[in-house]
Amino acid sequence: MSREWWRDAVLYQIYPRSFADSNGDGVGDLPGIIDRLDYLQDLGVDGIWLSPHYPSPQVDVGYDVADYTGVEPEYGTLDDFRTLLAEAHRRRIRVLIDLVVNHSSDRHPWFVESRSSRNNPRRDWYVWHPGRNGGPPNNWLSTFGGPAWTRDDGTGEWYYHFFFAEQPDLNWHNPEVRAAMYDAVRFWLDMGVDGFRLDAIGTVFEDPTLADHDSPLGEADLLRMRLEGPAGRPHDDKRIAAAFLRLFGRQIDQPGVHEVFRELRGVIDEYDDRLLLGETSRIEYQGTGDDELHLVFNFPLLGTDRLTPEWIRANQRLRLGSLPGDAWPCNTLGNHDTPRMTGRFGDGEHDAALAKVHTALVLTLKGTPVLYNGDEVGMTDFLLQDPALFRDGISTWAYRTAIALLGMAPGDAAAGAARLGRDKCRTPMQWAPAPNAGFTPPGAVPWLPVNPNFADGVNVADQERDPGSLLEFTRRVLTTRRRLRPLVAGEYREADGGAADHIAYVRSFDGEEVLVALNTTAASVAARVAVSRQLTVALSSHRAPGERLHPQEVRLAPFEVLVATVG
Ligand code: NOJ
Ligand code: CA
Repeated sequence: MSREWWRDAVLYQIYPRSFADSNGDGVGDLPGIIDRLDYLQDLGVDGIWLSPHYPSPQVDVGYDVADYTGVEPEYGTLDDFRTLLAEAHRRRIRVLIDLVVNHSSDRHPWFVESRSSRNNPRRDWYVWHPGRNGGPPNNWLSTFGGPAWTRDDGTGEWYYHFFFAEQPDLNWHNPEVRAAMYDAVRFWLDMGVDGFRLDAIGTVFEDPTLADHDSPLGEADLLRMRLEGPAGRPHDDKRIAAAFLRLFGRQIDQPGVHEVFRELRGVIDEYDDRLLLGETSRIEYQGTGDDELHLVFNFPLLGTDRLTPEWIRANQRLRLGSLPGDAWPCNTLGNHDTPRMTGRFGDGEHDAALAKVHTALVLTLKGTPVLYNGDEVGMTDFLLQDPALFRDGISTWAYRTAIALLGMAPGDAAAGAARLGRDKCRTPMQWAPAPNAGFTPPGAVPWLPVNPNFADGVNVADQERDPGSLLEFTRRVLTTRRRLRPLVAGEYREADGGAADHIAYVRSFDGEEVLVALNTTAASVAARVAVSRQLTVALSSHRAPGERLHPQEVRLAPFEVLVATVG
């Protein structure tokens, strides 16, 4: 069997609302994306993943779906979507869409029916329970703040929502729900969509006993931990991770998820060549390697604030060492839920140089890389000062709760809420040194403010003119990747003897070897790379291609990225 396309692909996440606005309403749209396909083709990506494009009240920017087989009118029409698909395919760009299975919008007709009466045929499509002593059925929290239950006044029962109250959880125990979702899946597959990024799939089931969690922590503690945590994600800090598990353990990764994946995989496998990429870091959801998800994200890589050589090596050992069968890894350093890579993994002084190091890292580790739109020009977090501008409900919740429960001063609460929320990494794509960064026409008001650093070279047009830019560097790495098969398909082996100031690894495929060496420090460092043959520079941030190097005498310049063929 030939190697599946997605193992070799570089994927690029588009956040539709913020990518390109074609009609001046301040909201990105599908025609805007179509206009930029040439850019993506030049950049050299093989596939795009669109965050939700479905009709939605936009309480969670499309992750609250009101119709699984439609297109958000602000984004365009189903015909626009078909055009996007055809135009992408014409450029050999695959298209993945987001599939939000855990919950729908509370405006979805299914939920409207479900809540209409206790004996509506769709009642059991969602998770309804009677209250307890006038309150919710148990003490579970929503991961977005507040109780996980909302009372429906009409019928007097409570519905469950792991996320916002406007995102009621579907009842995945109900075969009708599964069948309806698989119909939607087939609708898009029939149209030619190449696969799905599965949203929040670890949360489709809850502990059926509804037993209370036994954590002493409440909403205020949750907020405090989130304000302290690196990115609001508990990956790195063991103490926080344990506290989160105690709070949410009954609401995530319950038995039954594997079965859903096997079913879904069955649907996907009715079609050729499609991909299931799960929003989870749990490798066990790759099943035997051939029966559940094709890919899961290496989220720990973006959940850490310490992207040191030691940390990366340990991460790779653990992840690569636990892959079942033929399963393949998937690496990313950013998405619409996390702080921007540039800055996040910087040191405040050399962020631009480090952004190149990290771009090279994610594009040369073993696995399918996923880039987040704007990271290729070094877009950074933009912290909104004014709570009136917040669009992410997490920020609004954090702002209010920080004042009410933590007694924070409004200014501090606003600053904390801006850091915690996700608006910061969702600001409009910076295309040009032009009004509104070229995202939307002059005079239009973008749905989120544009980061003013577009005027300082953080934009596509300026960087296309600058051979030293992050954008041109990213293109070079992508070109090199396509040229050197080991970088795409090769095995991974450590080659730095455990150094603290740089990381080096060899990717090998079919007798060919490519060395990647990354200096993560501002000093020049001696790297004695563990290969025995001469090196020839394929790409370096500091030297010309073709230069020959002796493996025992490699001196890496500050923050140098070196990719060299071996032998
Ligand atoms: C994960 C998505 O990436 C995030 O943006 C969303 O808020 C939640 N799932 C709920 O759908
Ligand atoms: Ca628009």
